[in-house]
Amino acid sequence: MTADADIVEELRAAGLVGEGDVVLEPLTGGVSCDVWKVETASGPIVVKRPLEQLRVAAEWHAPVERGQSEVRWLRRARRVDPRIVPEVLAELPTGHAFAMRFLPGCPVWKDELVAGRVDINFAGAVGRGIAAVHAATANNAADRDAFPNDEMFRALRVDPFLLHVARKDTELAPALNALAADLMSRKIALVHGDVSPKNILVSANGPVFLDAECAVYGDPAFDLAFCTTHLLLKAVWLADHWLTHAADMLVDTYRAGISWEDADGLLLRAGELTAALLLARVEGKSPAPYLTNPEHKRIVRDQARALVLAPQPLDTLVTHWKRTFA
Ligand SMILES: Nc1ncnc2c1ncn2[C@@H]1O[C@H](COP(=O)(O)OP(=O)(O)O)[C@@H](O)[C@H]1O
Ligand SMILES: [Mg+2]
Repeated sequence: MTADADIVEELRAAGLVGEGDVVLEPLTGGVSCDVWKVETASGPIVVKRPLEQLRVAAEWHAPVERGQSEVRWLRRARRVDPRIVPEVLAELPTGHAFAMRFLPGCPVWKDELVAGRVDINFAGAVGRGIAAVHAATANNAADRDAFPNDEMFRALRVDPFLLHVARKDTELAPALNALAADLMSRKIALVHGDVSPKNILVSANGPVFLDAECAVYGDPAFDLAFCTTHLLLKAVWLADHWLTHAADMLVDTYRAGISWEDADGLLLRAGELTAALLLARVEGKSPAPYLTNPEHKRIVRDQARALVLAPQPLDTLVTHWKRTFA
């Protein structure tokens, strides 16, 4: 029996598909999972199963338990606002696979941005959505206990994005090591861990967040920084000034949702993290695949190195980026 046949059996056992033929149609995009679309009598569903070995050039190992973290995050975020995540339909017994409802007719935000359709208000809704999950879970012992994923977060985020660069760049190493230690030490709210435009669907009701395999109880500044980094890098790549406006809007609406701590402190941490993440996407283990132009890389590297050495609050950083790349 093939692995895919196992999935079909498990979908049958969960009552999601009947006895007839079941087609697993691969969905493109991911490096860390098998993701399939499956037609069922009650509409299309998505089945997602984490891979042991990520499909990236450098070797990455990540425990398949991250599938379980994703399901937990999806369920928790749905209690915060059911519009911002797909409904989980079943957890399947093997390999932390799960099924969720497929959202028809919802493009991936990254594809919209690359096509030049930069909706500033949508960026604002992304900021509101992330902040809503952070606000609902801040300083909450039950959420903290439900996401004890520090080792996974270290392996998939802190090591490749911060420490890997620190090992190569002695001048920045003290700042990056201190930033990594600070990030790991903060237990403030439930962090998604991969808020990238390719993990956000554009629905009629606003953003829908997918792919929470890196979820951890940690520093909410990470999610804001991660998403802003994507927008700022794309602004350089596509020379589209609307992308910097989108970043501005994202930070503004997020800031308005900060209810659990001093907003200035959070924005400073997010500024430090964004500088480091920008650098990681040109120097790290997970380079942005679209930043191939050496001039683009040089610009990002120079700006990011300067910002790691002299950090700015994220709103100031974005304004500066806007002036430089408008
Ligand atoms: N519930 C869903 N509805 C519609 N499309 C989805 C859904 N879940 C995933 N997809 C599509 O599959 C792609 C990969 O899913 P994702 O959860 O991001 O997996 P990976 O970890 O492999 O990146 C997404 O970019 C999206 O295009
Ligand atoms: Mg994804």
